[in-house]
Amino acid sequence: MEKELLNKMIEDTDNAANEGKQFEGETERQYYYMNLCKAHVYNEERRLGRKLTACINTFGCQMNFHDSEKLLGILREIGYVETDSEKADLVVYNTCTVRENANLKIYGRLGYLSNLKKKNPNMKIALCGCMMQEKEVVEKIKKSYRFVDIIFGTHNIFKFAEILYNSYGKNKMITDVWEGTTQIVENLPSIRKYKFKSGVNIMYGCNNFCSYCIVPYVRGRERSREPEDIIKEIENLVADGVVEIMLLGQNVNSYGKGLKNEISFAELLRRVEKIEGLKRIRFMTSHPKDLSDELIDVMAESEKICNQMHLPVQSGSSRLLKIMNRHYTKEDYLTIVKKLKEKIPDISITTDIIVGFPGETEEDFEETIDVVKQVEYDSAFTFIYSKRTGTPAATMEGQVPEEVIKERFGRLLKVINEISAKNTDKYTGQTVEVLVEEENNHDESLVTGRLTNNILVHFKGDKSLIGSIVKVHLDESKGFYYMGTMVEQ
Ligand code: SAH
Ligand code: SF4
Ligand code: F3S
Repeated sequence: MEKELLNKMIEDTDNAANEGKQFEGETERQYYYMNLCKAHVYNEERRLGRKLTACINTFGCQMNFHDSEKLLGILREIGYVETDSEKADLVVYNTCTVRENANLKIYGRLGYLSNLKKKNPNMKIALCGCMMQEKEVVEKIKKSYRFVDIIFGTHNIFKFAEILYNSYGKNKMITDVWEGTTQIVENLPSIRKYKFKSGVNIMYGCNNFCSYCIVPYVRGRERSREPEDIIKEIENLVADGVVEIMLLGQNVNSYGKGLKNEISFAELLRRVEKIEGLKRIRFMTSHPKDLSDELIDVMAESEKICNQMHLPVQSGSSRLLKIMNRHYTKEDYLTIVKKLKEKIPDISITTDIIVGFPGETEEDFEETIDVVKQVEYDSAFTFIYSKRTGTPAATMEGQVPEEVIKERFGRLLKVINEISAKNTDKYTGQTVEVLVEEENNHDESLVTGRLTNNILVHFKGDKSLIGSIVKVHLDESKGFYYMGTMVEQ
């Protein structure tokens, strides 16, 4: 682009803004700001004689990783070149605050960023994500981390280009955090990490208020996307080479509530199943309280929904589950698992467990071990309870001493590991369909793929196979993964 042309573009768009230009919708408005940023980046490139670089560092769950793909989409549109190094012109931290250590990690890394910024005065530092929705965090950053340029939250990430544009040429911290929103902005750019698979948001926020959890406070109330928008997005992804999608929500089982035309999650899955060219469907997370028989039936009938269910139990003690505000008992949970296993015999079940919730007794903990043994999870994410200020559990009596938690945690891990190693072994000798995902990190002659139940297998193959589904004989179980041989392409 010629410089004069660019300057004219900036002038025109600035005038339009001053004249109160009317946009058709938020998407158009944001594309307008992306164009303004583009012109700025272009001028900077001319001035510095090099491209501008951006690094996004993501913490937390799949939602955040998917949000970062949207941030990256915006940045590429603007003209930044992505880099893994934090020695970049723009560094974005997309933060998580679900447990305290996630939160502390950010403060630790900010010190390092401030040193980098001293060496590159052009550098901009942006913080976003769940941690920024906490007032105390923003106050602390304003007070002690003055070098941060931009703070925004989870509700207005679609506004990234606008906020970034407003920060160009200024040395002042810009803070734009919303308390909540009912808005869902569609059709902004997004860059996928993998060509052949993608996350797809079906809903945002959470209404469950589990008593230990901060997510409903930082992600706001539950909002479902229109099924037509979801289907359209997936069709576009498939046309662009995607064969596997992961439908994302904090509680996908309550999808569709509050829409003008209410629709169940199972019905959405039926519609997604019909999309031609799509091969695999995954989803997370399922809350046991809302898991319907209809969903189990749809899974059992489906050709495309993977035989995998992530079903966080949190605790095996009905007494604690009540205090956790989970709305199911140990027996309810085990009944669902029984139904799942009956209707989908080779289903892989995984879970999340919290150890050391306030008031957890040895008996409560043994109930958890009992559930683990009965369900025989393929894998389980285990977390030490972390006190989150503002949640009901933070002020509950009976916080469990650290040594007790550590001892229980170790015991639980041992049981989980024994069971998952035994589980993995059960498919040895079978030939299964595998989606080839990447070259093996350690051995270039190998590629790594995933079974429908999410287990990994390494086998001899060329990287040209990446993104295709092939048949692999599972030769040997290595505990958490297999070594195999490809039998058919
Ligand atoms: N929406 C999902 C979970 C999102 S958070 C669900 O309801 O299942 C992911 C996991 O973090 C939770 O399942 C829980 O096990 C864990 N977690 C949440 N808050 C926590 C806390 N305060 N301390 C420890 N672990 C926590
Ligand atoms: Fe947190 Fe519970 Fe909502 Fe999951 S369902 S995000 S654990 S409040
Ligand atoms: Fe963390 Fe926010 Fe996800 S708090 S776990 S990044 S929803």
